[in-house]
Amino acid sequence: MDASVLLALRDPAGVPFYPVVFQALYVLTWALHAAFVLLALGTMGLSLFGTFSQKHDSHWKRLTPHLIQTGKISISILIVLGVAPLLFTQVIYDPNWYVANTLSGMWVFIFIYALIVAYIMYYWYYYANKKDEGGGKLIGIISFALLVFSGLLMHNFAVTSIMPNEWMNMYAPNGVVDNSGWTFNMDLIRLAFMVSLAIPVVGIFLQNYSRFLSTKEDFSPKFIEYTASLGTKIGVIGLIISALCFVAWMLQIEYLLHPLSLAIIVGVVILLLMVAKNSNSYITTGVLVVVALLISAMRELIRFDIMANLGYSIYEYPVNLEIPTIIMFLLTFLVLGGVGVAWLLTMAWKVGKNQGVFDGSKDIIVTKLGNYTLGIMVIWMVIYFGWGMSILFANIL
Ligand code: HEM
Repeated sequence: MDASVLLALRDPAGVPFYPVVFQALYVLTWALHAAFVLLALGTMGLSLFGTFSQKHDSHWKRLTPHLIQTGKISISILIVLGVAPLLFTQVIYDPNWYVANTLSGMWVFIFIYALIVAYIMYYWYYYANKKDEGGGKLIGIISFALLVFSGLLMHNFAVTSIMPNEWMNMYAPNGVVDNSGWTFNMDLIRLAFMVSLAIPVVGIFLQNYSRFLSTKEDFSPKFIEYTASLGTKIGVIGLIISALCFVAWMLQIEYLLHPLSLAIIVGVVILLLMVAKNSNSYITTGVLVVVALLISAMRELIRFDIMANLGYSIYEYPVNLEIPTIIMFLLTFLVLGGVGVAWLLTMAWKVGKNQGVFDGSKDIIVTKLGNYTLGIMVIWMVIYFGWGMSILFANIL
């Protein structure tokens, strides 16, 4: 692939801020997306196992609906958080993202519908299980399969986008143009690694779950102990599987001895020791976040190197500074997002830490944060729409 083709595919308007900032935001937000993808797949997968034991095992009777609920919420979060890396990737790697979406156009449509059907079926599974313990198994399995399939399609877009040297062959195999949109590429080891991470993630989740609920009187110490040791077993086995997949992937692409790859391996070993010991799962989660960021950086490094070797460096993308847009974005992200998320997290924490039913309206901090979020949201909408309208009218009138 000639660099001039890649450069011609860039947005002629340039990028509104320094590319390195978009790159860092991409790494950060993809790690967040992945965290909830893995939590959704892990909790849902384990809940399916739970539906088979739920009727005769009191621990699974309690745990399964909680796993289903966690998976249900995680899907909505993963969808929202998927949008952010999508935006950043299309700003700095637009040639890659749009070529992949064109070559795999049919799969893009299928992705959307697969995700919609999977999520609707998830609710069906949730209600069927609520109505009848152990209910909705088949629906749950189909929903799970569709979610994994959605991930497989995401993987196809990611892999196709980093194969610029092959694009011409995919577009016109043997010189005959194929505009069907059915291009499909996968890298089994990379995919196995990504999906395998759902196992340690659900293991660490269970350790946190047990720790968090240990202060609640309505959860017996036996149940708390059971979920903690289940989390430890799943976490340890999962980390070993993921570590093996990671090494295989790094060997395949010859990055095993790269400092970043070595840092990930060290991180996974530390995680393994921490999960096995389970002295404080909240700290383990902190280390998991660091490892997730490193993995996200690894994905970016692979893409960056492939593109740099072809003469396309995101750092040379023409910059057309648009300070107001960036300020608006950062304020939205940090102020609206920060306060809103702090409100939700504080409320969730207090619900779990209080005995009996928690009434948020009687809690000073929750009420304050809720009011701030609403106030900021209103101000944000006025500025966002007011600004947008004034620019629109200034341009067309
Ligand atoms: C159940 C649904 C989903 C699953 C299981 C899933 C899973 C994944 C996986 C496994 C990857 C990594 C692929 C790889 O590097 O090989 C990925 C990447 C990504 N996903 Fe998702 N995803 C889902 C939904 C979404 C949605 C709804 C969006 C956007 C709104 C999204 C946006 C992205 C983006 C932007 C990337 C990075 C692509 C790239 O770097 O080229 N995902 N996803």
